[in-house]
Amino acid sequence: MLTDAVIAAPLTGFAADVRAGLTKAGQKELPSKYLYDALGSKLFEAICELPEYGLTRADARLLQGHAHEIASQVSGDVLVCELGSGSGRKTRWILEAMARRRHIRYFPIEISAEALAVCQRELADIESVGIVGLEREYLDGLLEVAARRSEGQRLVVLFLGSTIGNFSDPADANFLRDIRRILQAGDVLVLGTDLVKPVVQLVDAYDDPLGITAAFNLNLLARINRELDANFVLSQFEHEARFNSATQSVEMHLRSLRTQTAGISKAHLTVSFEAGETIWTENCHKYSPAEVRQKTKTAGFDLQAQWIDDDWLFAESLLVADVE
Ligand code: AVI
Repeated sequence: MLTDAVIAAPLTGFAADVRAGLTKAGQKELPSKYLYDALGSKLFEAICELPEYGLTRADARLLQGHAHEIASQVSGDVLVCELGSGSGRKTRWILEAMARRRHIRYFPIEISAEALAVCQRELADIESVGIVGLEREYLDGLLEVAARRSEGQRLVVLFLGSTIGNFSDPADANFLRDIRRILQAGDVLVLGTDLVKPVVQLVDAYDDPLGITAAFNLNLLARINRELDANFVLSQFEHEARFNSATQSVEMHLRSLRTQTAGISKAHLTVSFEAGETIWTENCHKYSPAEVRQKTKTAGFDLQAQWIDDDWLFAESLLVADVE
């Protein structure tokens, strides 16, 4: 028999995460992965060009400068996979150096179909590299690549750009352990990590005078408005970047400029904010070289080589999955 009662389907995905983050006791939060919709990804690309944000250029300098050393550490038949390839621009040098010795297959793993398409186009001209894009979450993609390996093939995982720093402690260590569990002894992880540097330099990098990072952060509320039928008034929130010395992290927040409420229809939620209250949207941890060594060791990797950029303190570490 039909009744008038409507049983709401359980929330999933973005709506469920937004509801959970904004109803959390204490500090409200939103997962940083949602910063990267089509517009957010474009804004992030603009951030990478900012003079105040030296991270991406340092990563690229190290990869370009040491591509041959990295390639020479990996012998035999390899499958290369990259967690969060983005446009793949800075991966070119490593792929070219590796493909000089043999034919390789490269699996960019991305949740964004647009970024995957750009990556495949950008790198299509490299000889001796077969590209297979995987539109997946990182670990799902890595599991799929591992399932495709044949006897004797080595896996090389690239996790560049200090994305590991966006996992709060201990999630970064847990994630490294999850990667290690999928790998076999002798497989390689190339890990990019941004390093601790003066606080002023860090805060400038995440609060640039052009306001690009502010737009990147506020776009998260705009995305909730667009996709979840919400009514956040963007002019009533401001971007804040602050350094947390206890966790050695730059935190991005969205600060409510007044007491207000916002309705989010598709999350079945009305949320209230006090004046000055914040939503924590991203954590950007800054490592010391010793911390990288220790965290990766605990996760089951041996540090084989580490290169540090002196202009912008950033480390590229070459790690080998140890014999358990
Ligand atoms: C993607 N990730 C490494 C960037 C970072 O620096 O933590 C994200 C970012 N957020 C604001 N600016 C850049």
